[in-house]
Amino acid sequence: MIKYIQLGLDYGTSSAKMVFRDYQAVGGERSYVIDDINGDYRVPTNVAFNKKTREFVFGGHEATGTDDWDVYYSIKMRLAEEIKQHDKKYYYGEIISFPDGVSARDIAIATVWYLAELAHLRIEKFYGASRNDIKLQITMGIPMSFFSDTVLREGFLEVIRSAYWLLKHQDGKIIRGGLLSIDRLQELSEQARNEVQKKRVPDTNSVRDWLRTEAESALTWAFTSPNIKQGLYAKADIGAGTTNASIFRITERHDATTGRWQKDGFAFFGATSDAVGMDCIDEIMQKHGLLDFRSNEDSMLISHPDLSVECGKYVNLMHEAVETAWGIAYSKQKDVNQWKTLNIFVFGGGSQVTQVRNKMTVHPYVNRNCLSAAEQVIKIIALDKPSDLLTASGASLVDKDLPFLLVAYGLSNNRLSISEVKNPSEIRTIPPPFQMERSFVPFDEM
Ligand SMILES: Nc1ncnc2c1ncn2[C@@H]1O[C@H](COP(=O)(O)OP(=O)(O)OP(=O)(O)O)[C@@H](O)[C@H]1O
Ligand SMILES: [Mg+2]
Repeated sequence: MIKYIQLGLDYGTSSAKMVFRDYQAVGGERSYVIDDINGDYRVPTNVAFNKKTREFVFGGHEATGTDDWDVYYSIKMRLAEEIKQHDKKYYYGEIISFPDGVSARDIAIATVWYLAELAHLRIEKFYGASRNDIKLQITMGIPMSFFSDTVLREGFLEVIRSAYWLLKHQDGKIIRGGLLSIDRLQELSEQARNEVQKKRVPDTNSVRDWLRTEAESALTWAFTSPNIKQGLYAKADIGAGTTNASIFRITERHDATTGRWQKDGFAFFGATSDAVGMDCIDEIMQKHGLLDFRSNEDSMLISHPDLSVECGKYVNLMHEAVETAWGIAYSKQKDVNQWKTLNIFVFGGGSQVTQVRNKMTVHPYVNRNCLSAAEQVIKIIALDKPSDLLTASGASLVDKDLPFLLVAYGLSNNRLSISEVKNPSEIRTIPPPFQMERSFVPFDEM
């Protein structure tokens, strides 16, 4: 039996998180986190290159410590810098040059192909299905500032479409072991890009099937969670390479037939994304000769107060992303009472770091002295597990996983479209999207 599956691919600067959704699951739709037998759902997106064998290794090969290897981190941000011809700093950390003739684009295409292949295999196994029985649609998340920049959006669109072409037209075995020779990488990247160029250019709607903003995707959870009530919220997703922030409102209406309150409206008032994230903190730790700081930033900052002071400038920049988003909302109606009462959701690796979390409780209004002392502090709302989110391995999800997984969850269930509005009374009503039939058009049939 043919299975129609939507794969949400959160291609992070440090790791990818993938969730697939089965719209025809018995007992109702379900999303499944792609994890391994240990329940780990993070696939490192750094890429290693063996200078002797001239092969790339995908999936986070632990190659450090020997001279034969170069390891490239934050390919997503290096790709952004390459697309924008280095007119802005997106990438923090030591720059190790790619081998001659190889671009961040080639490496990103191969990485996304590798990730899609991993997911495809896992999905086949999950259903005991053959390759041809799985019809996969992939939606990749990118920062909002990349999506709204035409050049960056086109660049990332080329990457996901080329990777998808490779998934469909190349033998998965080539990439499955996570190994690719330099010649093959260049040849396949070029071939895929040429094939994609021959296809019809996706219209605005289908671009949104390939690419969505991480910001919008993270909010699918907020809209569906029964614990999130109507109100004004801020959201910050502090990842390795970026901080995405937005200000939005959820509205509810009373349904006379069920006697319950039901969410019926959702709108953005302002959003930003900046190339500041945990990589900036890591760069400082690296300069100070510290080791093993990745994912351990919290304990490192607590045990090194001097570093915590030095990192403060970047933590402030993360908060500035929220201030900017709030400022955009405020500029739409310059009445502070409209915007002052809000709570915040914090996603991404930054949510695990005390110094960062503490900063996120500061109200984003830059003229905070206009607020009472109580109003100057905002509350971080706990994330909860969507009832339709499970893991492919059967491992249970715990609270600390949620800040990392909710973007991929939203990407796997991308029916919700949240629009940016010009004033606070213009909230767009959302016709119950989760009861709507989804027109599922696998890309290869378009
Ligand atoms: N407990 C933790 N677990 C995992 N990562 C953590 C933790 N604490 C801090 N971090 C840091 O957070 C970053 C990973 O966060 P996340 O997975 O949200 O980023 P990403 O999605 O790869 O990046 P981006 O969204 O910017 O593209 C890494 O820099 C990591 O070192
Ligand atoms: Mg992320």
